[in-house]
Amino acid sequence: MTKRIGILTSGGDCAGLNATIRAAARRAHLGYGWTTVGLRYGTLGLLQRPVDAIIIDPNRLEPSLARQGGTFLGSTNRGDPFAFPMPDGSRKDRSGEMLEGLRSLELDGLIGVGGDGSLDILRRLLAPSGLPFIGIPKTIDNDVTNTERAVGYSTAVAIATEALDRLQPTGASHERVMVLEVMGRDAGHIAIAAAIAGGADVALIPEVRWHLDRVVAHIAQLRAGGRTSALVIVAEAAGQSDEAPDVRGEAPGPSIGESLALRLMKATGAEARATVLGHVQRGAMPTAEDRLLAAAFGVRAVDLLAEGKGDRMVGWWNRQVIDVPLEKVVGRSRTVDERGALVRTARALGICLGDAV
Ligand code: F6P
Repeated sequence: MTKRIGILTSGGDCAGLNATIRAAARRAHLGYGWTTVGLRYGTLGLLQRPVDAIIIDPNRLEPSLARQGGTFLGSTNRGDPFAFPMPDGSRKDRSGEMLEGLRSLELDGLIGVGGDGSLDILRRLLAPSGLPFIGIPKTIDNDVTNTERAVGYSTAVAIATEALDRLQPTGASHERVMVLEVMGRDAGHIAIAAAIAGGADVALIPEVRWHLDRVVAHIAQLRAGGRTSALVIVAEAAGQSDEAPDVRGEAPGPSIGESLALRLMKATGAEARATVLGHVQRGAMPTAEDRLLAAAFGVRAVDLLAEGKGDRMVGWWNRQVIDVPLEKVVGRSRTVDERGALVRTARALGICLGDAV
């Protein structure tokens, strides 16, 4: 039986989204002869009349699409259907309008590519419709539970690592402390992985309580050993685990990276510079790992719909593509395990995490 399935990308974009859409639409077409409808701008397109959606032409799913950053369907992280931001500043429940728009597409199933927040919203939105829904985890933050990897994380780590590679020589040339602030929302996955791969001296993450004095002591120790520069990586939410924020009374900088550079400059006497990497981490050509993950997830998501399944998320676990009930994913967030392999590896390499250990 010919079916029509929908796919949308929701939340902050990341590398590997186009590869995911391509894989799902190709599997639907080649494996089952199904049509894939791409919903535009996450759930926002569902508010348009007619609904903003396109039939994805299987002849246009060239391999080059898998290399492209961004998402050709568009995305949003500002359109909560249950508390939709209105022009006058109020919030309105527009879930009914969205569902009505969804029904007009006459779909037999929907694939949502998103982080845990987006998957939660989509699951709640679709509940009254009975439409089978499969989630694919994507986020540079890699904080989705029940999957070791989310699409986009590998690329973000590669970019953060490359940033450290580039900061090291300039830092060494000028005998500076170079501070790199990376994204990750409330988790330090990008920071800890890039710290190891890029040879940082210090890594500050929200999961490990840190104290400025310990960072200063570590830099002093490096100096005593003959080093004249230092590389510090800090996760955007690491301020949450700062044991003594603004302890010296200076005005906090506009970002944790900038304020940390100022504090280190005062405390060490060394020149310090901050780089806030920002959205650069989301915008690149995906790494091979992200393309592989995207391909495996896209195929499995369609296969699950073909098996008549719904309310599940695909994931990567122990070298396998798995699927888990969405209820085991939503409302939870996977942060860096303080006793896990990455933290232990970082410590073993002498990377200072700013704590007492
Ligand atoms: O969740 C992905 C992410 O890039 C976070 O790492 C970051 O905190 C946030 O989105 C940035 O959001 P925005 O694109 O709205 O600035």
